[in-house]
Amino acid sequence: MKIAFFDAKPYDIPHFEECGAAYGITFKFFETKLTEDTANLANGFDGVCVFVNDTVNAAVIDRLSACGVRLIALRCAGFNNIDLQHCFGRIHVVRVPAYSPYAVAEHAMALLLTCNRRIHKAYIRTKDFNFRLDGLTGVDLHGKTVGVIGTGKIGRVFIDICRGFGMQVIAYDKFPAENAGIDYVSLEELFARSDFISLHCPLTEDTYHLINADAIAQMKKGVYLINTSRGALIDAEALLEGIKARKVGAACLDVYEEESDLFFEDFSGHIVEDDTLARLISMPNVIVTSHQAFLTQEALQNIADTTASNIVSFFRDGICDNEVCYKCGNIDHCRKKRKEKCF
Ligand code: NAI
Repeated sequence: MKIAFFDAKPYDIPHFEECGAAYGITFKFFETKLTEDTANLANGFDGVCVFVNDTVNAAVIDRLSACGVRLIALRCAGFNNIDLQHCFGRIHVVRVPAYSPYAVAEHAMALLLTCNRRIHKAYIRTKDFNFRLDGLTGVDLHGKTVGVIGTGKIGRVFIDICRGFGMQVIAYDKFPAENAGIDYVSLEELFARSDFISLHCPLTEDTYHLINADAIAQMKKGVYLINTSRGALIDAEALLEGIKARKVGAACLDVYEEESDLFFEDFSGHIVEDDTLARLISMPNVIVTSHQAFLTQEALQNIADTTASNIVSFFRDGICDNEVCYKCGNIDHCRKKRKEKCF
């Protein structure tokens, strides 16, 4: 089993080398992202291993298929960057549905706490021996209302963390869980009541720009928005306007809708062309991290283990539980029977 591994980073390689040796898989690590220009690197490989910002559109799928690639092994949970319908009948796609919901939920809370208590400001001040406190006032989280959108694996861990802080939790999910002890409300009610809103749903046609100007208009003045899911859940221009109008009190963003050309790379010596991102980053009440919510040792190990096991299941058994459904693109609510393939 020979796998071309795109967008390889130093923190990925040791885990995948170890798992590759254990599972009998040869990974060839390419630093470059998968794009139409780089897809031919996969020539002679059985599969490719890709991440959130690799391009897997119809043209790339056709090239991979022509190179003899039979499997796209995502080393992440989300698959919004894959043209699944085009994959149907051509190439199989497996993913890592869960690797550490704790990593992402804990990062969401870390961002919320940092923004609320101005830790990012305090850190810079004390580094410069400035010990003044003005401008650093936060609020107690205890008793505040947090609205959680998406109550799957990560959303539920985040809910537990918030309850630990004594917060009131309300939630919205298109497919609410039964008997989960979660106080589900409509999206409109969630917008109107929440002091903090955290996004934990996937990016789909339904959720694209879920947070737009209209949604922001329905929110409380001073609301905090936390997004550790996918950038395009938020209309970044509308967010910027909401911040400038002092409607949005803070934004904590681990993801950004135009992140794919920027995140995971060092642009510190460059002029960044994206004015919206530059303006957001310049705001005192915005924190941007570069899609790092998953980045814990435990998550990296689980990602490598599950990806390797997915690859072995596919090539050895011809079936993999973590294969994505190409017809509905939805694992949890798919009518496809377990252990049944779409094609
Ligand atoms: P999950 O599949 O366990 O939960 C997603 C939840 O969203 C489900 O309860 C589902 O019913 C709900 N949902 C689906 N459509 C919805 C809609 N239109 N409106 C509201 N809710 C809807 O997924 P999990 O593992 O909790 O991950 C959530 C998201 O987190 C992923 O889709 C991914 O985009 C993001 N993620 C981000 C990472 C990062 O490093 N920043 C790492 C891992 C995941």
